[in-house]
Amino acid sequence: MPSTRIIQIAPTPADLFQAAAEEFIRIGNEAIATRNGFTVALSGGSTPKSLYSLLAAKHATFDWPHTYLFFGDERHVPPDHSDSNYRMVNESLLSKIQIPAENLFRVKAENPDAAAAAAQYDAQLRTFFRLKPEELPRFDLILLGIGPDGHTASLFPDSEGLKEQSRLVIANWVDKFKTYRISFTFPVLNNAAEVMFLASGPDKAGMVRQVLEGKSSPPYPAQQVQPESGKLLWMLDQAAAKQLPSGTR
Ligand code: 6PG
Repeated sequence: MPSTRIIQIAPTPADLFQAAAEEFIRIGNEAIATRNGFTVALSGGSTPKSLYSLLAAKHATFDWPHTYLFFGDERHVPPDHSDSNYRMVNESLLSKIQIPAENLFRVKAENPDAAAAAAQYDAQLRTFFRLKPEELPRFDLILLGIGPDGHTASLFPDSEGLKEQSRLVIANWVDKFKTYRISFTFPVLNNAAEVMFLASGPDKAGMVRQVLEGKSSPPYPAQQVQPESGKLLWMLDQAAAKQLPSGTR
């Protein structure tokens, strides 16, 4: 079991993203104060967009020059494509803050060879974190979302990527979308100092309950995120938490 699992429920989506922004900034200030740098892996999809917009609007003066931004996963598309996680983050955050270009680590997903793009990103992580061959990067914060099928990052049920134990980043074939996704693997996710799941809205309630309460076999990918020696923080709004047992809500 992770060292700590915390479920934090906010009354409204606005409260949720406010609380998530405060937690982001709190971890960031602490990391920069103690290690002179804040390493974050951002999540994609639609949910975190409001968080990124809030960070840009309310925290433009945050110490972005000591913040290093990575992507926990990326779609296999160019950075200007409407499905690109980089594009979403750039439009909602990066284009609105002063962060050195060298602090941004984008997946080169325009590379038609998804495996090569994943290998390149894997090498970038190893270089940035100065890793020895068997070592893992320890992010200060990894943001994650959860899909209706229990996937997280781009680790989907029944996909090969679920089994990966040595590579940090993989090109994971997602059969239902007939495409590759470039994704961090569980060893990276589970070596983070803090993992923050963000889930908002009634559509997420069923899977949130199954992931937090269920004993499904095999476990959903989101259930396999159990930081070894880190904090697992589930940040939910009331609608996403609706089906949780009253004791949890
Ligand atoms: C992605 C994400 C993915 C996402 C979930 C939830 O690239 O899509 O990293 O894991 O977090 O699919 O997506 P929504 O936030 O859009 O519901």
